[in-house]
Amino acid sequence: MTNFTYFNPVKIVFGKGMIAELKDLIPADVKVMVTYGGGSIKKNGVYDQVRRALSGRAVTEFGGIEPNPRYETCMKAAAQAKADGVGFLLAVGGGSVLDATKFIAVAALYGKGDPWAIMEGGQPVEAALPLGSVLTLPATGSEMNTFAVISRDSTGEKLAFGSPHCYPQFSILDPETTFSLPMRQVENGIVDTFAHVMEQYMSAIGSAPLTERMAEAVLKTLVEEAPKVKAQPEDYDVRASLMWCATVGLNGSLGCGVAAQDWATHMIGHELTALYGIDHARTLAVIMPAVHRHELTRKQPRLAQCASRVWHIVKGGDAEKAAKAIEKTEAFFKSVGVPTHLSEYGIDVVEAGAKVADRLTKRGLKLGEYGDLGAKEVREIVALAK
Ligand code: NZQ
Ligand code: ZN
Repeated sequence: MTNFTYFNPVKIVFGKGMIAELKDLIPADVKVMVTYGGGSIKKNGVYDQVRRALSGRAVTEFGGIEPNPRYETCMKAAAQAKADGVGFLLAVGGGSVLDATKFIAVAALYGKGDPWAIMEGGQPVEAALPLGSVLTLPATGSEMNTFAVISRDSTGEKLAFGSPHCYPQFSILDPETTFSLPMRQVENGIVDTFAHVMEQYMSAIGSAPLTERMAEAVLKTLVEEAPKVKAQPEDYDVRASLMWCATVGLNGSLGCGVAAQDWATHMIGHELTALYGIDHARTLAVIMPAVHRHELTRKQPRLAQCASRVWHIVKGGDAEKAAKAIEKTEAFFKSVGVPTHLSEYGIDVVEAGAKVADRLTKRGLKLGEYGDLGAKEVREIVALAK
């Protein structure tokens, strides 16, 4: 097991009706800015529950945060937060609203010029406004982690940052808020969660037996619950189970003691979203099987372990099992309703591979758990995703 420090201060408030707890979770004497997206929270009653819980408080709002939140929008929100003397940010929505709110929290206090310098990796985060969240879309894990992914129109970039200053103080997870999700977003959430677990599980081979079994538990739960949510979308327990899977999937616990993690799929996927506008999770469903096929030899032991423990493939040697694990993953994504080939989006893989490789190379990035996948390998991986 590798050495690790694990710290996660996010208070999780989980279950039906828990939005009412907001009144005790946010200090009474601060001005709150509620941030939200394109309006889903106004249609499904979440906005009303939040306003009710905050009645009598000084509250301002910032709506209109887009999926794949834009830097330009976040900067407007940060300016509003400063002008209004806001002391606490409450993100109400999916991963995009949560991520945007983390960036707004930093930008509102940033005193060294353009906070985009943080996204480019040049500047540290020194402070952020306190924030909390009411999550309405289980997928990203943003509700219990430090990360945010922000897109910038003027450069066409989609970049990630993370800082302990950006941990939400609390996140309210009421599975009932997810009943109004379009099935496409439910599918995205399942695939994104599955991919987060695999990125950590597909580490440079070492041994972290408990963490590996925790990862396998999340994968198995997703495989069991996915058909149920499609067949019975109104089943509360299934929604609750998926919501908790997403949070555990990327709250840092599945990285404890494992050697260097993969994340190549996400890095390539972010570029595909920036270039072609494909939903985040949908990029992962096409790229993850391709990464695993490309890296079959080095990943063979972990893929074979996944085959036996998650997919119950008992026959054959490691090579055969590893190949089957990839097929099973791909079949799972398809069964969830998410395409696994770039051609299904009408994208030319040679052109896409060249563009993605070029962008990653310009940023000096090498991918994968061994940090050695460069432009050539990225082009090969994207070609395999055809
Ligand atoms: O904007 P509104 O009107 O709220 O509608 C949203 C949006 O159109 C809708 N939605 C959310 N909750 C709903 C709902 N509609 C009906 N009922 C509800 N309860 O769903 C649409 C998509 O929302 P979005 O927040 O964009 O989706 P998701 O949660 O999948 O977030 C994706 C973003 O998170 C980033 C992705 O790159 C992408 O930008 N990620 C963040 C990570 C992190 N912070 O750790 C890690 C991830 O790997 C990922 O990169
Ligand atoms: Zn993701």
